Amino acid sequence: MRLLVAVPPGLEAITRGELERIGAGAIDVAHGAVFCDADATLAYRANLELRSASRVLEVLFHAERDAPDVHAVFATLPWAERLRADRDVVVHVQDAGVDNTHAEREAAALRRVAVEGARVVRKAATSDPYAITINVHRHRDRLTVAIDTSGSPLHRRGWRRSSTHKAPLKENVAAALLLALGVDGSLPFVDPCCGSGTAVIEATYIALDKAPAIHRKKGEFAFEWLRGFDARAWRGVQDAARARRKPAPLHVARGFDLDERALAEAAHDAEQARIGHQVKFAPGDLRAVDLGGPGHLFANLPYGVRLEDHGRARALAQQFGDRLRSDWASWHVGVLVPATLLADLGGAPTRVLRVRNGALECAFAIFTPNR
Ligand SMILES: C[S@@+](CC[C@H](N)C(=O)[O-])C[C@H]1O[C@@H](n2cnc3c(N)ncnc32)[C@H](O)[C@@H]1O
Repeated sequence: MRLLVAVPPGLEAITRGELERIGAGAIDVAHGAVFCDADATLAYRANLELRSASRVLEVLFHAERDAPDVHAVFATLPWAERLRADRDVVVHVQDAGVDNTHAEREAAALRRVAVEGARVVRKAATSDPYAITINVHRHRDRLTVAIDTSGSPLHRRGWRRSSTHKAPLKENVAAALLLALGVDGSLPFVDPCCGSGTAVIEATYIALDKAPAIHRKKGEFAFEWLRGFDARAWRGVQDAARARRKPAPLHVARGFDLDERALAEAAHDAEQARIGHQVKFAPGDLRAVDLGGPGHLFANLPYGVRLEDHGRARALAQQFGDRLRSDWASWHVGVLVPATLLADLGGAPTRVLRVRNGALECAFAIFTPNR
């Protein structure tokens, strides 16, 4: 089968590297998507082990150009081979060229074709929490039809229970940036403005070689509800991931922040992620905190989106840049800022990744010790 791994635009190369590491073949990179060949076991591994992915979909039809009409495509797809009769089906049509009403009407018509093809028996007026989603993505004469195998998006690892923090980074975005920075557990790790602790938890998972989705509940992956699901192969994939996990990281990852409520949330989530004793959160001001010896430093600075916060965010980016040159010159530093604040860091980053974080254009600037 062919997989489509959805990924936040700008992070495709990281996902490609992760797919190579789990043995995927014939990898193609597109905007916000990485395609590869896979068998069922690899599709399960992709869902369980990819840190940077948003979703994993199984491609049922793909044409780069001159695509036929999507209704004709749906009429010929072997729905009964992939869909179970006892699971509902939802179709999403994404096409910038048609308005929402038209897309919804088209989705309803396409759903009827899939439901009839698979002889889905739907209990009247019930909504199925495990309904299978089919995505139709059309851009001019390019068309992709794909079944979602992930269920809830993969940034939902299963450990974030309580986010009251204003601006938590998505778990998969944090993990992708950590991989881009080269975080691998070999050096001490610190996030001096860790907020709800996303990067500290993800860095610890990387250091432990712990699969990001290992604590998802049974039935939470959509592939478990597809026809042909191989429960034995899935158990094998989970057992192998558990066997690879290291008992303890080489270094305890640390997080600091001014906001003590966020730190309490971070500690709570680290417990939920079952690494509570392998991380350390403490109050601290990034302008003054002593971080000790060199290692990997990750920071997601305040965005300053609201007008009244903008000046403060700019000043903090400048102060961060000052510390970067005076105190952290021997650290591997990765700092995520709104693109408009990149110049305020000063200095010459070794590398800059352009990343979209929700609606915000961001830059991830990497500074290495030999800069
Ligand atoms: C964009 S948020 C970080 C979000 C975090 N990555 C997460 O996933 O939850 C920026 C954080 O910087 C913290 N902050 C602001 N000024 C700070 C300072 N001078 N020292 C330390 N932390 C600070 C804020 O409290 C906030 O939690």
